[in-house]
Amino acid sequence: MLARQHEHKAPQKRALQWLGKQLFNREDPAAFFDPLLEQLNPMWVQEYTPARVERILQETADTRTLVLKPARHWSGFEAGQHVNICTEIDGVRHQRTFSLSSSPALWHAQGRITLTIKRLPGGRVTNWIHDELETGAVIGLGEAFGDFQLPAQATPLLFLAGGSGITPILSMLETLTAAGASAPAALLYCVRTEKDVIAREKLEAMAARHPNLTLTVIATNATDSPRYLTEADLASVPGLQDREIYMCGPGGLMDLALASLDALGVDAQRVHKTFFAAPGAASLDGTDLGGTVRFAKSELEVSSEGDANLLDMAEAAGLSPSYGCRMGICHQCSCKKTSGTVINRLTGKASGPGEENVQLCISVPQGPVTIEV
Ligand code: FES
Repeated sequence: MLARQHEHKAPQKRALQWLGKQLFNREDPAAFFDPLLEQLNPMWVQEYTPARVERILQETADTRTLVLKPARHWSGFEAGQHVNICTEIDGVRHQRTFSLSSSPALWHAQGRITLTIKRLPGGRVTNWIHDELETGAVIGLGEAFGDFQLPAQATPLLFLAGGSGITPILSMLETLTAAGASAPAALLYCVRTEKDVIAREKLEAMAARHPNLTLTVIATNATDSPRYLTEADLASVPGLQDREIYMCGPGGLMDLALASLDALGVDAQRVHKTFFAAPGAASLDGTDLGGTVRFAKSELEVSSEGDANLLDMAEAAGLSPSYGCRMGICHQCSCKKTSGTVINRLTGKASGPGEENVQLCISVPQGPVTIEV
């Protein structure tokens, strides 16, 4: 019966329906050809999977969770991974990286994912998400990436989160609790004040249901004298040395935690960390930057005064190297440098002069450089 109905439809309508099914598994074209999606150019559609905003939940005063329904051909993810989203704001395309906050089980069961996004002061995209993005809109979703992932075997765990750094850890905790993981897991969650706890109900419900999960909230700015994470906080976690440790938060917290863990004799191999925002750039004042970059495979040369990274330079030359986050997190832009020195914009450190892999998005030439692109 269905087949007969399709036979009578105009070819154009059939094409729209086919595209609709590819995008959303739905018959009605109007459901996905909304004003935002109409602006997508063909390249955009190839790189990104359309994802409809089904619900928006206000977590705290400055944090929202987007419940998204990506088109079914999206490849899914592992707990702890990141994803790029692409939006058009005032006709300009913007790409940003966020961690997925839901568990892969939700994607498998319902075809839904969540992103939990904090408003950043001055942030173009996060402010747009908070002020303009509405239920029913469609955004572009890239494929998931990142190796901040749970160990394959059950093992005691410690999660250390700061602020919206809880996002990938939420996904991990939901994955562990849904699987009934038996190994002990502890979460130390640093927030400015108790009001800044993201997903409190969810976290408390998980801890109540799973006696092997302990939850400790540290409110750093609850009183006039700041209360920072201490060595004692970490030392109070039973069997600390035998736990795999996952941390995500601001740079200051991560540095403090790393120094304390080191002082407590924790093997650095057990510590896994990721960022929830671009790590701050190092000061490159006084560093002699700039040079001519030869893109060897394409036989193109571009020079810069030191104000552009290799990815920007390649794109300015008309090349299209792979990239993901454009902020040094995902390594998707890694390429072989065959000669010359580059400076890592995040660490301020110089590479060696010879052959090695460099991240194009955070590498700035220092003198002549040759890249296999
Ligand atoms: S694009 Fe992600 S590290 Fe360069």
